[in-house]
Amino acid sequence: MNSNVNVEEIVKQVLANMMAEPSGMTAPAKGQEAIPQTARVAMLTDLEHYDIKEFPLPEVGDGDILVKVEGCGICGTDAHEFKRDPFGLIPIVLGHEGTGEIVKMGKHVKKDSAGKDLRVGDKVVTCMIFKDDPDITMFDMNKQNVGGADVYGLLPDDEIHFNGWFSDYILIREGSTVFNVSDLDLYSRILIEPSAVLIHAVERAKTTGILRFNSRVVVQGCGPIGLICIAVLRTMGIENIVAVDGNAKRLEFAKEMGAMKSVNFQEHKGLEALTQGVKEQFDGHLADFAFQCTGNPMAHANIYKFIRNGGGLCELGFFINGGDATINPHFDLCSKEITLVGSWVYTLRDYATTFDFLKRAKGIGLPMEKLITDTYSLEEINEAHQKNLAMTGLKIAIINR
Ligand SMILES: NC(=O)c1ccc[n+]([C@@H]2O[C@H](COP(=O)([O-])OP(=O)(O)OC[C@H]3O[C@@H](n4cnc5c(N)ncnc54)[C@H](O)[C@@H]3O)[C@@H](O)[C@H]2O)c1
Ligand SMILES: [Zn+2]
Repeated sequence: MNSNVNVEEIVKQVLANMMAEPSGMTAPAKGQEAIPQTARVAMLTDLEHYDIKEFPLPEVGDGDILVKVEGCGICGTDAHEFKRDPFGLIPIVLGHEGTGEIVKMGKHVKKDSAGKDLRVGDKVVTCMIFKDDPDITMFDMNKQNVGGADVYGLLPDDEIHFNGWFSDYILIREGSTVFNVSDLDLYSRILIEPSAVLIHAVERAKTTGILRFNSRVVVQGCGPIGLICIAVLRTMGIENIVAVDGNAKRLEFAKEMGAMKSVNFQEHKGLEALTQGVKEQFDGHLADFAFQCTGNPMAHANIYKFIRNGGGLCELGFFINGGDATINPHFDLCSKEITLVGSWVYTLRDYATTFDFLKRAKGIGLPMEKLITDTYSLEEINEAHQKNLAMTGLKIAIINR
């Protein structure tokens, strides 16, 4: 039995070493499918319109990896591109929250960006942060004016075409950041990218020195971002969490994800009553720490009221400009001595932490997989995006069945 496995490993290796040879069709190893001559991508060709296009699969260079896509989540950025193309990328193959299986590798490819071995058959994800500097953030990248330069799913279309995860295959080019995540299930792998946002936010929160095991924590906004925030806090052992939102269904789910209590702002008239509502859930106390996970400026202005004197706040709800918020600097910040941190995207190090978080979340029974509420096939991608815009689900994903 064991020797069979070894033979298969050897075949895989031999096959991997042959990859550099430019051939249209690769003979499959035992138990593996043949790689087709052509494959499909979903290309955004107009506002709110994808076309399914078929192209010849590109040659795999010595440093490249060809991945058969299993699935990819739809992100807020994809929604913006679909609706308005703010970055002027059309025509483009979108999708950056994707994952799949290596089917072919160049002979120089041996390890992933964390130094883990890579083989044909391994499951991988890409990351939009460069591998050169493990602590680099999007902020640094923008300063260097290289933001978006090497991000699969945001790459302009070219002669290769297989540049995004909304497709059958993706060609990961030499030098790209790639991780072997074979030990995570498909849904966990699709949730890596959004989860990394929360790993980073909690790391930022920890720098205040205020967030501790027994802290009273408010998480405002229970979309995917707020819900994963709750899950991250729970895996750290923080339990006294109050979720705030206006959507009863999402608040129910927040409890499944580990919030102890919830407050529906629709049930409270005015900020004072809402603050009182939050206080009641903490047995008469204000929060020690709060995470702001909505993209609503008013919600930013409100949240200071829920935090005690000397407490902390992590604002992460504005991936893009959502407008100005009005606060009273004396009452909200100075006199309360609030420690405020902002958080944006993640570092490479956070990405590695995220893999462990997803295992821990599963281990303590958090229903992470329920975050993916709706799945569609590649040819249903227009429908999937409309569903995402309708905001009636949580995370919408394309799954290649
Ligand atoms: N910092 C980052 O790097 C980063 C990364 C990704 C997303 N984001 C941001 O996080 C935000 C949340 O993302 P999401 O995918 O969960 O979005 P979402 O729209 O699905 O969820 C937002 C939630 O906030 C709730 N909400 C709105 N106004 C509120 C208010 N006044 N009080 C309480 N709840 C309110 C909504 O009902 C909704 O459930 C977005 O604005 C996005 O830009 C930031
Ligand atoms: Zn994203």
